[in-house]
Amino acid sequence: MTKSMDIEKKTLQDMKVNEVKGDDYKEVVLHYYDKTSRKVYYTDIETHFPSDKKIISVTDLDGYIIQVNEVFVHMSGFSRKELIGMPHSILRHPDMPRIAFKGLWDALNKDGHWHGYVKNLRKDGGFYWVSASVFALHRHGKVVGYTSSRGPAPRDQVIACTKLYKELLDKEMRNRVS
Ligand SMILES: Cc1cc2nc3c(=O)[nH]c(=O)nc-3n(C[C@H](O)[C@H](O)[C@H](O)COP(=O)(O)O)c2cc1C
Repeated sequence: MTKSMDIEKKTLQDMKVNEVKGDDYKEVVLHYYDKTSRKVYYTDIETHFPSDKKIISVTDLDGYIIQVNEVFVHMSGFSRKELIGMPHSILRHPDMPRIAFKGLWDALNKDGHWHGYVKNLRKDGGFYWVSASVFALHRHGKVVGYTSSRGPAPRDQVIACTKLYKELLDKEMRNRVS
């Protein structure tokens, strides 16, 4: 793992609109926690998670990506160069409710770890589900960053989360003050 948590930070606005495969896609503007927004294109094309692989990443305290493994690069469709320095929300899928990530950050701040199921957006607009565990990284007794390991999500969890996240997202949309 990296010794340094120093990276050149980028913003999602540095990233061009993602490039989708084919003509059958939807378009949406995502609003992020830091008040920035970005248009993304997305499709119904799922990339299945290889059963014998793990996606690993390391971030700084604000969730900016410092390190990724080869499986991360392969599953996300972004190059390593594009990913390093980007906020992790580069993978945020429009079907994910905000409350799921509030739960992640609240648990990290309180307990130092979180586990959940996440639908992630690929660069090509497709998606992949993961079973994710996130942990705080400590150095000299202080939290210096976070790491996450993800494996394939069981199908029954994907079905349950698809339904739950849609209900939560619909509720968030209804309550949105524009
Ligand atoms: C180590 C770590 C891994 C994360 N992995 C993901 C991920 O795979 N997909 C994702 O959408 N957000 C992930 N997040 C959460 C993002 O930082 C972010 O909170 C989320 O995408 C929602 O964006 P927003 O907070 O700007 O609303 C991760 C955060 C940390 C600290």
